[in-house]
Amino acid sequence: MSTHDSHLETLAVHGGMEGLTAQGSHVPPIDFSTTNPLPGVETGGMAYEQMAGGGRPGSDQSHVYQRLWQPGVARFEESLAGLECTAESVAFSTGMAAMSAVLTAMVQSGKRHVVAMRPLYGGTDHVLDTGLLGTEVTWADDEDVSAAIRPDTGLVVIETPANPTLELVDIAAVCRSAGDVPVLVDNTFATPVLQRPAELGAALVLHSATKYLGGHGDVMGGVVACGPEWAVRLRGVRALTGALLNPFAAYLLHRGLRTLPVRVRAQQETAKSLARFLSEHPRVARTLYPGLPGQDPRGLLESQQSGPGSMIAFEVEGGHARAAAFAEACTLIGHAVSLGGVDTLVQVPASITHRPVAGDAKPDDAIVRMSVGLEHVDDLSDDLDKALTA
Ligand SMILES: Cc1ncc(COP(=O)(O)O)c(C=O)c1O
Repeated sequence: MSTHDSHLETLAVHGGMEGLTAQGSHVPPIDFSTTNPLPGVETGGMAYEQMAGGGRPGSDQSHVYQRLWQPGVARFEESLAGLECTAESVAFSTGMAAMSAVLTAMVQSGKRHVVAMRPLYGGTDHVLDTGLLGTEVTWADDEDVSAAIRPDTGLVVIETPANPTLELVDIAAVCRSAGDVPVLVDNTFATPVLQRPAELGAALVLHSATKYLGGHGDVMGGVVACGPEWAVRLRGVRALTGALLNPFAAYLLHRGLRTLPVRVRAQQETAKSLARFLSEHPRVARTLYPGLPGQDPRGLLESQQSGPGSMIAFEVEGGHARAAAFAEACTLIGHAVSLGGVDTLVQVPASITHRPVAGDAKPDDAIVRMSVGLEHVDDLSDDLDKALTA
């Protein structure tokens, strides 16, 4: 079927499914081949060269080797690009591999300076702050992005809603300040169901696909949605550095996209109730959730994001020891990192996911981050209440 101009829900179900009926299949077959037959030495060599440089194989060309092209990965990439309203997307083994590929491609093009806004996921913060991949970072606020840009700036990096404090960043305003410098938005928390940064001017939209896209806590992946030029560069980096999404992971992520809109909206409804519950709880000092009154002063939930999502952060009364005791006292709710799955999870970011973040930029150590799942809201509020009052 043609998915052109379809609604997001239809794209989520049918994206990347082209040609299946002709093959007699209902769902994409998983092709585990690491190598592919070569029809001839010259034709094989030409296909190799084309894909090693980041190009796509022609319909009559051999895929040569899984590190260059994998059909199930390409199906997932096509579906995700449709949801993010970009021409293409390029998938990787993890979100961090996706981020590393973008930084490597930037360095390869002769630029090494990044302007980034905190907070970011701890791993992203750490890779930028250490300059591990030969980059240099300037940390900026939204008013000083343009002042921080230099002739060798190759990227502006933002995350909105930000991990872990759920602050919203004005994507269109940052893109205006960045001018010609490409802006990367980490859209892991909002997903394309709630926010499509490319429509607001972002050149690159990154996901830890491990989170909402997979949605069940059983698959790792990363993906960058972008235009054709970046896609060629990123596929070229992937072919050389090898941070591939494996065929089974691609299958699971592609399947995850089919239920993404339903999951995101259902989890969001529960999160709205729990955010209200927490904001009124005597043992909670403050609740951070963009959907609560006064927490979106720039009206970004109207202009760029169609809902507050299902991530909540809150500060437990009594400081870090009480926050740790709370996390350990939850019974139905899991105490674990990661997010975006069907089950509710809590963790204390300052101690775990944001542990490597430099001292003054580290989140408050009494803050708990909660990823709200698909359980019944009353069971979740009971567990929260018991753990908070334990
Ligand atoms: C917002 C965000 N971006 C990127 C990442 C990194 O993704 P991965 O763990 O798949 O490498 C994470 C991981 O938690 C994340 O939360």
